Amino acid sequence: MPFEIKINPIANSRISELDQNNIQFGRLYSDHMLIAHYEDGTWGNPEIVPFANLSLSPATTFMHYGQAIFEGVKAYKDAKGDARIFRPEDNWKRMNRSAHRMAMPDVPKEIFVEGMRKLIDLDQAWIPTRAGCSLYIRPFMIATDEFVGVRPATKFSFIIITSPAAAYYSKPVSIFVHDEFVRAFPGGIGFTKAAGNYGASMYPDQLIKKMGYDQILWTDGFEHKYVQEIGTMNVFFVIDDKVITPDLVGGTILEGITRASVITLLKEKGVTVEERPISISEIEAAYKNGTLKEAFGTGTAASVAPIGKLTFHTDVMQLRPVEEWETMNWIKTTLDDIRYGRIEDNHGWILTV
Ligand SMILES: Cc1ncc(COP(=O)(O)O)c(C=O)c1O
Repeated sequence: MPFEIKINPIANSRISELDQNNIQFGRLYSDHMLIAHYEDGTWGNPEIVPFANLSLSPATTFMHYGQAIFEGVKAYKDAKGDARIFRPEDNWKRMNRSAHRMAMPDVPKEIFVEGMRKLIDLDQAWIPTRAGCSLYIRPFMIATDEFVGVRPATKFSFIIITSPAAAYYSKPVSIFVHDEFVRAFPGGIGFTKAAGNYGASMYPDQLIKKMGYDQILWTDGFEHKYVQEIGTMNVFFVIDDKVITPDLVGGTILEGITRASVITLLKEKGVTVEERPISISEIEAAYKNGTLKEAFGTGTAASVAPIGKLTFHTDVMQLRPVEEWETMNWIKTTLDDIRYGRIEDNHGWILTV
């Protein structure tokens, strides 16, 4: 069934609130949002409306039982000023994998991708143009039954909001490898972007931040032997001339879209990429014998973030200066060149608005 996307534009734009020289992640939201409701087994027509508070009953089910999922996408502006969204269709597919596991309805592509395109078209002025900047796009779905009781909901809302973003980390990140807490177990929801995954990570995250670290590197739940992923990034290690990243078997790791892009581009360049279990002791051994050349995280928010320091128990691994990292620097530049339209997109990753 085709959807009609209605637009109710804002009377007075708030664009003057955007200071291109002082953009803080996730603080300011652009003029409009998209909202669609699901009821009686079908989605209604999405609407693009002025960004505003929602009015919800305190009994709204997602607030109690966590039937809530989200995505993270970015739009960039090229030199001509045209807006480009990076791989939105892949986010749509991942959103629906999350939805399936969380007993939530699939979001139709027309609502997710076409709705997003129309929203970005309307709010193009909110895409910052300074180097490294973008518009962060946050699609999400919540269960909206007014019912306190544990059962899958029947009513849902899908919403997209957007927020101007600058570069996420300005210097290499420090990472603490955790072997006490667990992010995900096989059979659980680690492969989804369910809100609960992030809620459960707050306490361990608070602990490592107090210790002066930026992010956690999670380990597997059985033995705490194999590394999994970082807070909101997948992780890559360059050992000798090989690039190694944890595989997705077991469903404990989020299938990152940046991760997939990095693997594709490196393989096309002829670099050996191994997706396989990688243990913390293998990383420590490589560090000691000098073959651990680079380590970096990948994600939509942070793009490609070099790891400057990696700590496991009392073992502090300090990596060499980032300027010397060939692989990370190449992949970061190449991805940015595709996103900002400086080189051709040979993969069909860009949706031009
Ligand atoms: C837990 C987790 N891992 C990895 C990623 C990276 O995924 P992507 O590259 O699709 O942003 C994210 C961010 O979405 C995340 O939240």
